[in-house]
Amino acid sequence: MDTPMDGDRPTEGALQDETDSRHVSRRPVLRAAVAAGVALPAALMGVPALARTVPSTGGTLELTPECDDGDDPTPPQTEGPYFKPNSPRRTSLVDAGTVGTRLTVSGYVFGLACVPIANALLDFWQCDNNGVYDNRGYRFRGHQFTGPDGKFTLQTIVPGLYPGRTRHIHVKVQNPGGRILTTQLYFPNEPRNNTDSIFDPRLLMTVRNVGTGREGLFDFVLNVPQNPTTSPTSPTTTTSQPPGGTWSVGTTYSTGASVTYGGASYVCLQTHTAQPGWEPPNTPALWRAA
Ligand SMILES: [Fe+2]
Repeated sequence: MDTPMDGDRPTEGALQDETDSRHVSRRPVLRAAVAAGVALPAALMGVPALARTVPSTGGTLELTPECDDGDDPTPPQTEGPYFKPNSPRRTSLVDAGTVGTRLTVSGYVFGLACVPIANALLDFWQCDNNGVYDNRGYRFRGHQFTGPDGKFTLQTIVPGLYPGRTRHIHVKVQNPGGRILTTQLYFPNEPRNNTDSIFDPRLLMTVRNVGTGREGLFDFVLNVPQNPTTSPTSPTTTTSQPPGGTWSVGTTYSTGASVTYGGASYVCLQTHTAQPGWEPPNTPALWRAA
């Protein structure tokens, strides 16, 4: 058992390279249809395919997620003293006997153009229900990779509190072969958020109660330049070359707009900005054949 103290205080200057004071400006991006392939059932049910739906027992639609607009990648934070390399690859840090409030953390990893990043590495670590880090083994440590749609999901518990810090989860996120973002995720409405000098509201998850557990949502934006007309890190979402037509990635289409693709004509059903993989034949929630 370690004595955590407040060892997560930042080392001055150590992580300032990616920290900046640029303003936070956000715009809504209808990008949940990144999972267009997965959203088909919702589309068939008449549910807006561009909203992230509650996975199980929720019953209400969550807000359409946002992605930063390119000048505000997810801010870095100190690694703290408790990171250990070589964590197990796993998406769940709990088992039947784990003590603590169950927490599911999910979201997407994007680059600066809000294009999802497939196969991005996420390495999570946190303390247990009592605020203790496992520094001998790998309890509450695990890494995973985003899927082809850039999504990740972590099953864990709400971390406990320890002296000097507010409630938080540590994570490292890495574009394949790229630079590592080390940061922390926070919980809203925590009294200690107001007194923890490391706390950054830009790193607050959206958290809600679900049954006896909680769900946290957070999307990472890596400082990775992207051309929104391509999906450079996601070969599995790349389709064959468009066989001609007026449809193009990056264009915002309004409901009722007409395009041609692959020799056929389509009418837009929902206003959206076209992304790789959202070709009209692939997205019946967005386009119908004219
Ligand atoms: Fe910590």
